[in-house]
Amino acid sequence: MRPAVTPSRPRIRARIWLATCAALALVAVSGCSQGEIDVASENRDGAQLFYENCSGCHTLKRANSYGSKPEGQLAGGERSNGPNFNVRKVSKDDALFAIRNGGFSGAIMPANIVVGENADKVADFLAKYSGEDAGEGTDVQGSGQQAE
Ligand code: HEC
Repeated sequence: MRPAVTPSRPRIRARIWLATCAALALVAVSGCSQGEIDVASENRDGAQLFYENCSGCHTLKRANSYGSKPEGQLAGGERSNGPNFNVRKVSKDDALFAIRNGGFSGAIMPANIVVGENADKVADFLAKYSGEDAGEGTDVQGSGQQAE
């Protein structure tokens, strides 16, 4: 008779398989919660373009981008730290203006990093997802502007 305490080989294999699956599932779950582009499918291209072209200087968590001055840092940041779009809401027109002219000042941000259809996709993405963390007081709707 086989001793009852020693599991059979197929059973051990099944356990290893289960443990592997559990570990993989964990990796998959944690991968979704951070470091990912997180937008509706029609804005995916815009977010990806933003990540590739704008994340060096701008923050927007929906596009996994962290190029603005770190939140909570009081000292002056880098010259290239652009506005943080988690808190700054921009309209599509503003986004297109900034893309074509190199920001609002034309001093730091390069103009026309994205053009044509790509510029349009980035502007649509920004108009939809910028300003999600804006406080009530800084919401553009409070200033009488038309929200979309
Ligand atoms: C080299 C750094 C740099 C890159 C790359 C960059 N920006 Fe900027 N951007 C800035 C800085 C700095 C400002 C603020 C000064 C200004 O407006 O001129 C700014 C301003 C802006 C503004 C105006 C926001 C406001 O309310 O004042 C928008 C919109 C904008 N950027 C969008 C983009 C987009 C979209 C991209 C990618 C296609 C991009 N930026 C790439 C540095 C950058």
